[in-house]
Amino acid sequence: MPNLFDPIDLGDLACPNRIVMAPLTRGRADRAGVHGPLAVEYYRQRADAGLIISEATGISREGLGWPYAPGLWSERQVEGWKPVTEAVHAAGGRIVAQLWHMGRLVHPDLGGGPPVSASATRGPHRLHTYEGKKDPVTARALTRDEIARVVGDYVHAAANAIRAGFDGVQVHGANGYLVDQFLRDSANHRDDDYGGSAENRMRFLREILLGIGGEIGMGRTGLRLSPIGEVNGVDDSAPEDTFTKVAAMLEEIGLPWLEMREPGDESSFVAAAHERVSPAMQEVFSGPIGLNSDLDRASGQALLDAGTADFIAFGRPFIANPDLVRRLREDAPLNAPDPATFYSRGAEGYVDYPQLEEAPAR
Ligand SMILES: Cc1cc2nc3c(=O)[nH]c(=O)nc-3n(C[C@H](O)[C@H](O)[C@H](O)COP(=O)(O)O)c2cc1C
Repeated sequence: MPNLFDPIDLGDLACPNRIVMAPLTRGRADRAGVHGPLAVEYYRQRADAGLIISEATGISREGLGWPYAPGLWSERQVEGWKPVTEAVHAAGGRIVAQLWHMGRLVHPDLGGGPPVSASATRGPHRLHTYEGKKDPVTARALTRDEIARVVGDYVHAAANAIRAGFDGVQVHGANGYLVDQFLRDSANHRDDDYGGSAENRMRFLREILLGIGGEIGMGRTGLRLSPIGEVNGVDDSAPEDTFTKVAAMLEEIGLPWLEMREPGDESSFVAAAHERVSPAMQEVFSGPIGLNSDLDRASGQALLDAGTADFIAFGRPFIANPDLVRRLREDAPLNAPDPATFYSRGAEGYVDYPQLEEAPAR
């Protein structure tokens, strides 16, 4: 069985190890969703990862409801990302852009118009704005024409990602955002061919992936899912059935790799009181599967040993340990992440976590 430090191919990407940096929203761009020099330093520091998955990045104004999160729909955003991808490559790394539409979780005060979703629903929590959190707004169900337009927005953002120097993209299909609002039946009440059966609920995702694959190559396209547990008010009544069918669809269209947040019931991020469905998905999806949430060196390696995962995505450990790969390799102690600076502005808690001291000369 592979070791965390063994190489792995994720589609067109030859990754030197199986330690992937999970997507992490950090709120360090400007209000136009444009990154500056701080993000260059942050990602450069983490280039030892087998693969960096960028923070969730808006595909359109309509889809971006997180203050100071970056986008990939405008020319200025593309220009802001270029030094980031160049720095990661210069340091020997690889980076894909996580493409994000938040659907019903976008407050209209962010400037994207009324929120949209699979159905006219709203999330359970107050929504982010630049003036603090505000009461959720009921989304409008996307029409069929609008679904085609949103698919086009994903494809446009994927093309921009490549122009910005990314090695590929990961579609954000997890965590209760727009794709997940279509996929899981608690948020999808449509009676057309985008709702009802699992095949219909995954149609939107399928069109996005085929659109992106046609534009930038399927070998540069990846996907994140969170099949189990409620998040942002989205859940499924039959996750194993739904996601085994999703996995079969991914196999059919030739998606090269899949990464999933499958937390346990004691997760300190968003817990799920449901057993993993990834083993059932592995039966029908032949590409590498990466797993995430609350994992460390031993538990991550144990998933590789058991054949349950092919690579491991680490989130908070990468926030606090820019040199996580080295620390795992040397079994060195880890810095603890500080949640107070997860989404704060500025350098603190972003680019100032200490690296291990150089090993003393013998
Ligand atoms: C500060 C923070 C920001 C996050 N941002 C994203 C994101 O942009 N996209 C995403 O898919 N997941 C996001 N997540 C979830 C992480 O990718 C990961 O699933 C979670 O942290 C659990 O993994 P860990 O236990 O290794 O930290 C975020 C988590 C944290 C703590």
